[in-house]
Amino acid sequence: MVIGILKESGAEKRVAMLPGEVAVTKKLGVDIIVENGAGDKAWASDADYIAAGASLASRVDLISKSSFLLCVNPPLEEKADSFSEGQVICSVVNPVDNSKWLENARVRGLTVLALDLIPRTTRAQSMDILSSMATVAGYKAVLTAASSLPKFFPMFMSASGTIKPSKVLILGAGVAGLQAIAIARKLGAVVEVFDVRSAVREEVKSLGGKFIEVEGAKEDSSAGGYAVEQTEEFRKKQQELIQKKAIAADVVIATAQIPGKKAPVLILGDTVRSMRPGSIIVDLAASSGGNCELTENNKTISVNGITIVGKSDFASEMPSDASKMFGSNVINLLKIMIGKDGSLQLNLQDDIINGTTAIHNREYVSQRVKQMLGIK
Ligand code: NAI
Repeated sequence: MVIGILKESGAEKRVAMLPGEVAVTKKLGVDIIVENGAGDKAWASDADYIAAGASLASRVDLISKSSFLLCVNPPLEEKADSFSEGQVICSVVNPVDNSKWLENARVRGLTVLALDLIPRTTRAQSMDILSSMATVAGYKAVLTAASSLPKFFPMFMSASGTIKPSKVLILGAGVAGLQAIAIARKLGAVVEVFDVRSAVREEVKSLGGKFIEVEGAKEDSSAGGYAVEQTEEFRKKQQELIQKKAIAADVVIATAQIPGKKAPVLILGDTVRSMRPGSIIVDLAASSGGNCELTENNKTISVNGITIVGKSDFASEMPSDASKMFGSNVINLLKIMIGKDGSLQLNLQDDIINGTTAIHNREYVSQRVKQMLGIK
């Protein structure tokens, strides 16, 4: 099999594999071609890729020579007829936002592996790209808030008196939220946390956060470690308690999500307006509508002196380690898909491969992609 690593377009700084991971992947018995300049923004040069055993090519050549195309984001701008029937495209897909692209790929007879559909199971943990990127986002969200806040995070006892620590409120204690708790605590802030899954209570506590309980949360153990939508009554109760906590907070990091759904609105406009000027909200859920009613995707806005950061590309802001994590996750997925002879073995009986395969043989395969797109 020939794997082609495409250069990303637009502002994206990550690359799907750095040279170190290319060298490891080659040991699986595959050939690797890298598009000229693919690693430039992640500080990996063409020479580094050659030293790792890859060859370089122009985009056109790479697409025509590779049976398996690997990229971070789907190649949306590429003309559909650039690809040939049977070719595999492996990337994060965002099936709901890119449903038209996906349908075109299906009609063209392409196979699409959606890295954002990898099931969140113990066996697939080492392949979970969304978790890796959420780890980066949780880290960057706290640093972004800390560097813009007009206050210190830690408590200080100095000759000029005592400085109180900042209060950080974290909404959602999944991967990004837990990382945000850990970093905010390391910087010395006092951290309070909301989540609807009681399973995370102990994790929050062990990281030094205070878990705020709202009674009546709906949980579903069959949701695979993810949250489910809440009742109207619960939502109101939660919004009221969040309002109280947000008024006292200096920073809010919002990470609550239910996969494939619009993000739950936890912070109303009135809550924002009642916060202290100078406070900061970093809304990681911006791309799926935001946890804050006023968030604007990919914009930083100010409302009554409260800054709301709606950045959706934090992972791209740390391209070296984000690309390293991305590539390592891909290698672990490839290990279960590549046979001893280096060929692709798409065993759809395997739950991880089945769950990740959005399209194969002109059919939608993954149950989750069908649910997201309303396909029976
Ligand atoms: P996750 O699914 O691991 O965690 C989300 C958490 O929110 C879960 O613990 C869930 O129980 C909780 N939650 C759901 N509904 C809630 C509610 N009503 N109240 C309180 N908690 C609730 O998700 P992950 O991987 O941590 O990602 C979090 C968010 O960060 C997602 O929206 C994701 O798209 C986004 N993200 C943003 C990036 C950026 O650059 N802005 C980069 C990577 C991820």
